Amino acid sequence: MTNQDEVQVSEAEIAVHWQEEKLYHPSTSFIAQANMTDPGIYDRFSLDNFPECFKEYADLLTWDKYWHTTLDTSDAPFFKWFVGGRLNASYNCIDRHLDEYKNKAAIIWVPEPEDEPHEILTYQELYVRVNEFAALLRDFAGLKTGDRVTIHMPMVPELPIAMLACARLGVIHSVVFGGFSGRACGERIADSGSRVLITMDGYYRNGKLLNHKEKADRAASVASAEGQEVDKVLVWRRYRGKYVSETPMVEGRDFFVDDLLADYRGARVEPVSMPAEAPLFLMYTSGTTGRPKGCQHSTGGYLAYVTATSKYVQDIHPTDVYWCMADIGWITGHSYIVYGPLALAATSVMYEGVPTYPDPGRPWRIAERLDVNIFHTAPTTVRMLRKAGPDEPAKYNYHFKHMTTVGEPIEPEVWRWYYEVIGKGEAVIVDTWWQTETGGFLCSTMPAIHPMKPGSAGPGMPGIHPLVLDENGNPIPAGAGKAGNIVIQNPWPGQFQTIWGDPDRFVETYFAKYNKNPDSKDWRDWPYFPGDAAVQAADGYFRILGRVDDVINVAGHRLGTKELESACLTVEEVAEASVVPINDELKGKMPDIYISLKPGYQPSEEIQAKVVRSIETTIGKIARPKHVWIVPDMPKTRSGKIMRRVLAAISNHMDVGDVTTLANPEVVETVRQMVQGDRESEFYG
Ligand code: WT7
Repeated sequence: MTNQDEVQVSEAEIAVHWQEEKLYHPSTSFIAQANMTDPGIYDRFSLDNFPECFKEYADLLTWDKYWHTTLDTSDAPFFKWFVGGRLNASYNCIDRHLDEYKNKAAIIWVPEPEDEPHEILTYQELYVRVNEFAALLRDFAGLKTGDRVTIHMPMVPELPIAMLACARLGVIHSVVFGGFSGRACGERIADSGSRVLITMDGYYRNGKLLNHKEKADRAASVASAEGQEVDKVLVWRRYRGKYVSETPMVEGRDFFVDDLLADYRGARVEPVSMPAEAPLFLMYTSGTTGRPKGCQHSTGGYLAYVTATSKYVQDIHPTDVYWCMADIGWITGHSYIVYGPLALAATSVMYEGVPTYPDPGRPWRIAERLDVNIFHTAPTTVRMLRKAGPDEPAKYNYHFKHMTTVGEPIEPEVWRWYYEVIGKGEAVIVDTWWQTETGGFLCSTMPAIHPMKPGSAGPGMPGIHPLVLDENGNPIPAGAGKAGNIVIQNPWPGQFQTIWGDPDRFVETYFAKYNKNPDSKDWRDWPYFPGDAAVQAADGYFRILGRVDDVINVAGHRLGTKELESACLTVEEVAEASVVPINDELKGKMPDIYISLKPGYQPSEEIQAKVVRSIETTIGKIARPKHVWIVPDMPKTRSGKIMRRVLAAISNHMDVGDVTTLANPEVVETVRQMVQGDRESEFYG
C-alpha cells in the first residue's frame, strides 16, 4: 500500500528529530501503597512462560468452573482463552462483593446541572437494580443467552445497569456512543442483529437538555431498511415519571422502563454461567473501509485482562475513588469505568456532561467533593482544560495519587502540564496505549516500577511482547531511531475474538500483513498488527506515532476516512470527496474535507453546509470537519487514484513533495493557493 509507505517515511523523520525526554520517578509514598511493586512480574510473564503466565490474571476472578486449557490455538488466529472455564461477568462485578462491600459506593453519578444531587449506587443497590432490569429484559423483552441488544445511551447510571443486566443473562450488549447519530446507531443495530434497543429520553450536555429519543426512531427505521426490525424500544427517563423528549412514543414498540420496572420489584435473576469464550459484548469501531467493525470481546479472557490491568496499572484498591472521564460508549469506558473497576470492588465515578460546564473548574470541584484520588482522561481533554482554565486546578483542594492518559499521543509539553498543574506534581502518570480491539492496555509503564517518560507509552505490559517491524517484517532494533509498524508477537486474554459476522476481515486486517503461513496453528506465526507506527527507544520504551491506515484520530476517537467520504458523497452536488487529517491544537487531528462538484454546479457556502450536515447526521457531531474545501479537481495519479497524501500536506502546510508524475500537477498549485493563501473564501472563484 503506497499510503502506508508514505506515512512511514514522514513519521520516521519526525522520530529522528525528537529529543530524549527527562525521566520522572514515582514517589515513595505511591510505591508504598501500590498493588504491583515486584519487577519479577516481567520474568513471570516472559515469552518462555507464555501462555500459562496468564493464570495469574484469571485467578483474580471467581469461576463457577475452573478451566482446563489456558490457550487453545487450534483455530488460529481465532484464539480461545481459559477453555472449559465458566463464569458470569455480572456476578464478578457485583454479587461476589456483597459480603464485604454491600454498603460501599459502586457508582457515584454526577449530573451535569450542578444543583442536582449526586446519585450513589452502593453494591447492594447496583445488585438490586441490575437484577430487576435483567428480569425485565428476560421476561418482558424475551431476551435469552446469545441474543444481541443495542444500547444507545448517555452517561447515566442506567447505562452500566443495562450492560450488567445483559451480562447477567449472557445477552451480548452492543453499546453505541450516545453522541452518534440515529443513522449510525441503526447501522450497528442491523449489523449486530439486535431486535431490542435500549435508549433514553434525554440528557444534559453543555447546559442543554438534549432530545435523545428522536435518534431511536431514526435508528429503528435505518435498521429496518437494512432488514433488521426493532420490535421493542426500551426508554429510560432522565426524570422518573416525566418524559422530557418531544418525540412521541410508538404504540406497541416503545416502553418506559420506569413504568415496566414496577412489575419487577424484588426480582432476582440467577447469573447465567457462561463459557469463558462466550462473547460478552460487541464494540463497533472504524476501519479502513466504510463499514464499522463489531469487535467481539469474550467473557473470561476480557474480564481477567481488564481486572488485572485495572489493579496493577490503574492501581485501583477498593478504598480508592476512581474517576475516568471517558464515555462508556467507547472501549475505555467499558474496560476502565465499568468492568475492571467494578470487578475490583472500586468506587467508580461517572459524570454526565462536558468537563468545562458551567466553567473549567468543574472537574476539580467534583474531584474535591468526592475526594477522587485516581483520575483518567485523554490528551484532548487535558489540552482543552489547559486552554480554558489553566489556573483552575490550583484553586481546589484535591489530591491525585495516579493519573492516566489514553487515546492519542500526548505532546511532552502537555504531559508536563498534566503532571505539574492537574497532578500538582504528586501523581504518577501512566500513558496507556491500546485499542478497541485489544480490550485493555498493551503498552504502559507499571506505575510503581518504571520511571515515566513524557510522550512515551512505555514498555509492553506483562505478557505483551511488542516489536517494531519494517514493511518486510524485519525487526527494527530498539534505539535505532527509526519508525516502523508496531506488532504484538503473542496473543493475550483481552484480545478481541473476531469481527462480528466477518471473520475474513478479522484475519485480513490484523494478521495477514505479517503472517507467513495461513495454515499455522502456532501462535508464533500470528503477530497482531494494530495499524500504528511506533519507535522504540534504547531503554525499551515505545513512542506511538499514530495510525498508518486511513483512520483519523479525532480527540482520541477513531473515524474512518472512507466513512466520512461516503457521507460527503450523499450530497447531491458532490462528485468526488477526499478526507485527510489536519493537525488541531485541541483535538489532535480533525478531518479536513476536499470535494469537487458535478458539472453544472457552482461552489457555494450552501454546499459546504450541506456536507457538514450530512456528516453530522450520518456519523455524529464529533466528526465535524475543520474545513470543507471545494476544489476544481483532486490531485490524481495517472491511474486516477486521489493523492490524499498531497492534500494532507497542503492542509498541514507541509512540503507536498514531488508531484510532477501526477496526472494533473497544476491542480496541486491551485489547491495549495486556495488553502494556504489569504483568501477569505474557502472555495475557488
Ligand atoms: C488508537 C485506538 C485506547 C482506547 C481509546 C481509543 C491511538 C490510543 C494511545 C496512546 C498514542 C494512542 C492509537 C490506537 N492511541 N492510545 N496512549 N498513545 N496513541 O481506542 O478508538 O480503538 O483507538 O488510538 O492510534 O490505534 P480506539
